[in-house]
Amino acid sequence: MAMNPVETVQLSHWESIPEPGVVAHALDALESGCVLRLPLAFPLEEGEQVVLSDALLDGSRKNISYDPATGRLKGCVDDPALAGRLRAVMARYARLSASLLDNLLPAYRGQLEAGRTSYRPAEIAGRPVRSWRRDDTRLHVDAFPATPVNGRRLLRVFHNLNPEGVRRWCVGEPFPELARRFFGQILPPARWQARLLALLGLTRSLRSPYDHYMLQLHDRMKADLDYQYSAGRLALAFAPGETWVVFSDQASHAVLGGQFMLEQTFYLPVEQMVYPERSPLRVLEKLAGRPLV
Ligand SMILES: [Fe+2]
Repeated sequence: MAMNPVETVQLSHWESIPEPGVVAHALDALESGCVLRLPLAFPLEEGEQVVLSDALLDGSRKNISYDPATGRLKGCVDDPALAGRLRAVMARYARLSASLLDNLLPAYRGQLEAGRTSYRPAEIAGRPVRSWRRDDTRLHVDAFPATPVNGRRLLRVFHNLNPEGVRRWCVGEPFPELARRFFGQILPPARWQARLLALLGLTRSLRSPYDHYMLQLHDRMKADLDYQYSAGRLALAFAPGETWVVFSDQASHAVLGGQFMLEQTFYLPVEQMVYPERSPLRVLEKLAGRPLV
């Protein structure tokens, strides 16, 4: 079924139980690589407005991450009162994101593994970046060098916490098209290389051939300026208090501007998808002519 790159779902609150029609539509849209847009506010509570400041960053990184399992914050300034407020906000966001997906995507119930919660309080536009590889204002699919996913999907829940400004994104061409476009440029992975990276502690586990192809895709897209300028793209602006959900390993996207964004990552095994043939893993395996995990 042909979909728009962005589909809107109306839910009154984070713990709403949607109609079966809404559930089927949301699942089909997400597994097609669409951005699911939800006008779903995440209100701050009394005293929590202090988190709306980029002074929370300790300068070591662009994001503050929260580990729901340990309650640890990384990247936050050493101020117990401020950190306490932020921890409460991020813990609540992690919990409500899980409830949202539990009700909206019952097909994945019990199969989603929660990853880190992330808060990005700094303005994106005009921020200097250390290299083109880290430049998320270029179209890309998400793939991370140090944390192999072995084919698992990256499902992310984003929220624009900024009470005043939009978060500007754009989305690019469908995954099968970009995979076909760049696949021929990618050298097959070498097994000794994956072993060496793991041995040196540069990856947390052995980098699978799938992770190799995804990282290469991420890099080829960002490095190709002709592609960046000429690829079809759709500009999106997420309003204050808007939420969006996307398989960010599949939907080509770029972040152009905005401040104060919350994000919760979930991992999903490909076999738990309703349409696994649409996953980046299956698309790439078809192109490679062999299993990649
Ligand atoms: Fe990204």
